[in-house]
Parts: sequence; structure tokens; C-alpha cells
Amino acid sequence: MARRLSLAGLSTDPRVAPAPAPFPWWRSAVVYQVYLRSFADSNGDGIGDLAGLRARLPYLAWLGVDALWINPHYPSGGADGGYDVVDYRAVDPDYGDVADLEALVDDARRVGLRVVLDVVPNHTSDQHRWFQAALADPDCPEAGRYHFAPPSEEPPNNWQSLFGGPAWSRTPDGRWYLHLFAPEQPDLNWRDPEVAADFEQTLRFWLDRGVSGFRVDVAYGLYKDAALRDNPGFYAPTLFGHGPEQAMTWNQPEVHDVWRRWRSICDEYPDTMLVGEVCLADLDQVALYSRPDEMHQALSFRLLKSAWDPASFAAAISSALDAFGTVGAPVSWVLGNHDKERQVTRFGGGALGRARARAAALLMLALPGSAYLYAGEELGLPQAAVADEAKRDPIFLRSGGARAGRDGCRIPMPWNATDGVGFSPDGAAEPWLPIPADWGRYAVSRQAGRNGSTLQLYRRALALRKAHPAFATGTATVTTNGDVLTVRCAGEEETVRCVVNMGAETALVSCSGTVLLSSSRRVHSAGGTVALPPNSAVWLVED
Ligand code: NOJ
Ligand code: CA
Repeated sequence: MARRLSLAGLSTDPRVAPAPAPFPWWRSAVVYQVYLRSFADSNGDGIGDLAGLRARLPYLAWLGVDALWINPHYPSGGADGGYDVVDYRAVDPDYGDVADLEALVDDARRVGLRVVLDVVPNHTSDQHRWFQAALADPDCPEAGRYHFAPPSEEPPNNWQSLFGGPAWSRTPDGRWYLHLFAPEQPDLNWRDPEVAADFEQTLRFWLDRGVSGFRVDVAYGLYKDAALRDNPGFYAPTLFGHGPEQAMTWNQPEVHDVWRRWRSICDEYPDTMLVGEVCLADLDQVALYSRPDEMHQALSFRLLKSAWDPASFAAAISSALDAFGTVGAPVSWVLGNHDKERQVTRFGGGALGRARARAAALLMLALPGSAYLYAGEELGLPQAAVADEAKRDPIFLRSGGARAGRDGCRIPMPWNATDGVGFSPDGAAEPWLPIPADWGRYAVSRQAGRNGSTLQLYRRALALRKAHPAFATGTATVTTNGDVLTVRCAGEEETVRCVVNMGAETALVSCSGTVLLSSSRRVHSAGGTVALPPNSAVWLVED
């Protein structure tokens, strides 16, 4: 049953188009990624939930983001942080129920925030009713919705799981089945029309509840080589950037028709959007997923992989602007997410890493396009050390500990500096991942009113980004001069710049303009010269 929004003055039916927007919101939006399990726990079971997130919406409105993307909220087998979905049209009881999600969407809209869900079409959970039916009866229709192969000595081909080991496991009756991620995540066979039909129902189910779109997991997957031929090469396991050595598993031409179909569904619901996770090495191939009749955007992971040097960042920015510009899509910038080591740690840790992460944030938020923030980066959270016994990530578990895994960037949010950091109501609950003893020092309550805190830096940057549209919507040029990287964005009304010093010495930058914001309080400007200390960034508006 479709649920109607009930905001005064707005249409009560999400399918009735409002007056056309001159510039779609998603092209320049700042989207805040909520790792639901770690955001806020309302009922004291140590697990973040929808009611907890709902209660924290004022914080997100205060911060100044435009939309939320919520990591998977579905009933799940729990093998891969919710990316093993048991039922696509329900809410995991850990997180609440469908009414909670509807209430979240309503409340969010009231404070000016849109809600984007995660959808996982490449694989289901092994506990999904289709896979369970297929295990019980090899000849049932559901078996055709996965990739099964008859019993044999060797797996059907040389494909490898991204989480380590072969991509094929055996059923109890000796058949093989394909899983490009964990064995608990069997890959769907998109050549079976029932699969496509079911996902279309799922999209409508949530769109009818007023959500503003979907982040599409593994959008470069879904279809596999029709004959399941061997890949030409093996690869070092990574979540980013597959190339020709993986030609048979990813990026099959047929997948683009799925996005055309999904786009046409979204087009029935005004102001909704699709943003794809497309981990391909060739950025021109990634951009094809955001052609005008496919997904609205494809996440650009280049900044996630950039080393702290101007050439690396400049190449990341220019290549993304070029590739997405060719298809007319905005770049969707990402500096951190739930799969990657936190920026502060990645950029060197401690005070150095913090200074660089702050400068990098100003750089990303100055770029035209949309920006994706990962919960906790506005607090400058570092990667947490997690004891092996507490780790949950299949990457760690399946590699026998050889790969650290992603738990350290998924620790619960510190809201205040009391015991338990305010994640659960009374602080007494055991959090689902252990919270480091010093986590309180990063708490929202500590940073919110403190000038110069990382939280205040993000908040001011988001406000200035809105006040100076040249940042998010201007035409950017990127230059480097020694250790200094400059992005200049020419807008209709004004021209703005972000200048970053990535070197070890103070850099003197000449500029006739006004300083809007700087990542370090040691940035000084006088007489047309800005002194930028090492690892700092400044925003300027040109005279
Ligand atoms: C990408 C997601 O971001 C990651 O967390 C997940 O493990 C894989 N897709 C598999 O769904
Ligand atoms: Ca809870």
C-alpha cells in the first residue's frame, strides 16, 4: 500500500510532479552516508537503528547536508554488514520496521533532508527464500535465478571471490554455486527475467514510501559472461578498480539495459536519483553508467585512492571531471566510506593525518558535483584498532587475518564524552563493535561549540558551499605549482578557489581576494599574499 507524505503545502502523492526544478538537487548535493548499525541506538541493544537515526536528524540538519544514504537496512544474514539481503521489501528487526522507515523519511523531509536507500542487486543472502528453495530442489524455478553448476571435481571456472578464495562453493548435495563476494552472498542470474521483475517491485515499494532514490551496490556486476568463461588473469584482491583481467565477471554490456529500465522507473517519481557503485579501473567505463538515460551518477572513488601529493590529487580530479563531463554527469566525489580506512589514518595518522584530512575535506567540498561524506568523518574519527576476536568483516575472517578488514571504520558514533559516548541511551549496552576508550574526545558534544573543531570546519564549509554556488556548480580548472594544488571554480556570479599546500614548508600564494575559510588557524593572509602552512587548505573568493 503506497504511503502518502503529509507535509503542508507539498503534494501528498510522491508521484505527482512538483514544478520542474531548474537544477536537479542531486547534481550538487552533499550526501551523508549513515552506517545505520553504528549511528545511534534508541533502545539500548547496542545496535544503531532507525529510531536512533530519526532522533539525530536535527544534528544532520544543523550540519547542513542535503541528503542521507543509509547502508542496507534489510533483514540480513549478517555475513557482510547487511549486504547479504534476506528480504528486499522489509526492515531488519534490529533496525525497526517499515513504519519506522516511513517516519524517518517524513521527519527528514520536514528538516530539509532526503533519504536515499542502498539496494543490493548483484547477490542475495544465502538465507533468501529463493536460494533456500534452490537448495531444496535443484529443478525449482528459483534455482534458475542463481548460477549453479553440476557436481564436478573442479569449480566451473577460475573466478575468485573479492573477499578471498574461489568464487564457487558447494551446496550440501555437491553442486557448485557462484558468489563473487562471501559464500553467504550467492550471485543472482540476471538472465532470468524474474530477477529483473522482482527488483522493479522492490524499487517501487520504497519509492512509494517517499524515498529519494538508491545507492546501487556493485552496479558494475549483475550480468556475467554468458558462457562463464575463465577470466584472462588473476588479480590482487581489492574493492576498487577491476580491469581487463576480470573481463568475464564484471562490466558486461547487458547491465546498461538494467540501468535504463531503473532510470525510467525513477523518472516516474520526481526528484529521485540512482547513484551507482562502479569499481572499474577505467574511469571512462565508469562514466558510461551515468549516461543521461542510465543512473544519475556513478560514485567516483579516485580521491579515495589518491596519495597525499598534488600530482596524484590533480590527476584524480581532472580525470574524473573529464570522464564524467563527457557524458554530461556530475562527478560524485568520495573521500571516505565504510569500505575504506578513515582519512585521518590514511593520510598519516595523529596530528599530521588530521591536518591533511581537514585540508582534503575542504578540497573535496570545493569541487563541482556532488560530495559523499561518511558518518564520523566530520568528527575527524581515525581508523580504530579492533581486536581480532571482535572483528566481523568477512574480508578479515576469510583471509585468515591476513587482511585487516573494514571494522575499524565502522565503530559507533561518539555523541558525547560520557561512558559509552552516548551511542546507546544509558551507556550501559555492549555496542555491537567495541568503542575505543578515547572515543569521547571526538564526540559531537565536545566539538559542536568549539571554534576550529573539525565538526565546525565541516559545518562552515557546507554553509559556504551553499552561499557560494560557484564551488558546487562552477567550471573547475586544476593546477599544481610545486607542493601547491589549486582548484579554481568559475561560477556565474563569482570565481572561487581552493588552494592546498601538500608540502612540508609554508607556501606563499598570491591572490587578490577574500579568505572564506581555512583548514588551519595558522593560515594568514595580508597584502594579496596567503601564507599556507604545510598540510592546510584555504577557500578564497576572487575580487
Ligand atoms: C560494496 C559495499 O560497499 C561493500 O561493503 C560490500 O561488502 C560489497 N559491495 C558487497 O555487497
Ligand atoms: Ca538498537
